[in-house]
Amino acid sequence: MANVLIVYGSTTGNTSSTATDIAAELRGGGHAVTLLDAADAGADNLCRGYDCVLFGCSTWGDADVELQDDFIPLFEAFDRIGAMGCKTGCFGCGDSSYTHFCGAVDAISQRLEELGSINIAENLKIDGDPGDASDDIAAWAKSVAAAL
Ligand SMILES: Cc1cc2nc3c(=O)[nH]c(=O)nc-3n(C[C@H](O)[C@H](O)[C@H](O)COP(=O)(O)O)c2cc1C
Repeated sequence: MANVLIVYGSTTGNTSSTATDIAAELRGGGHAVTLLDAADAGADNLCRGYDCVLFGCSTWGDADVELQDDFIPLFEAFDRIGAMGCKTGCFGCGDSSYTHFCGAVDAISQRLEELGSINIAENLKIDGDPGDASDDIAAWAKSVAAAL
């Protein structure tokens, strides 16, 4: 059994509900999961004590990639989360009609790579309503579980 933290930033609830679905899948596989809203997350040693940390964030902005509001202060302090050597995965909701579809997911995973984390899953990008992507979400959570 692994100890997994899921940190998510969500404005209209889509990435939040995706995080909840991922948590349910992992718990069904016998793993311990903590769900944490980025609005309540402190950066210092965030990853400590967890076997894996999953980061969820929706994308805003238009010409430029903007992370979801609550995630921005955490992202700016990523050098303090203790990512080095931690297993990580990234997911988020967006809209493919925008230039940078789920750009926040790529920005977060790129930063985690720079900080020396161990990426264990392809970035999960949900286009539109996550309720229509439940199979993709479950499959992604299973791929994470297989790498724990
Ligand atoms: C003003 C605005 C800007 C957006 N910009 C982007 C974008 O650049 N890329 C993208 O993939 N989605 C973009 N979206 C879509 C949101 O990311 C999408 O609605 C997402 O599901 C919101 O997730 P949340 O409820 O977890 O915050 C934008 C939406 C709005 C209203």
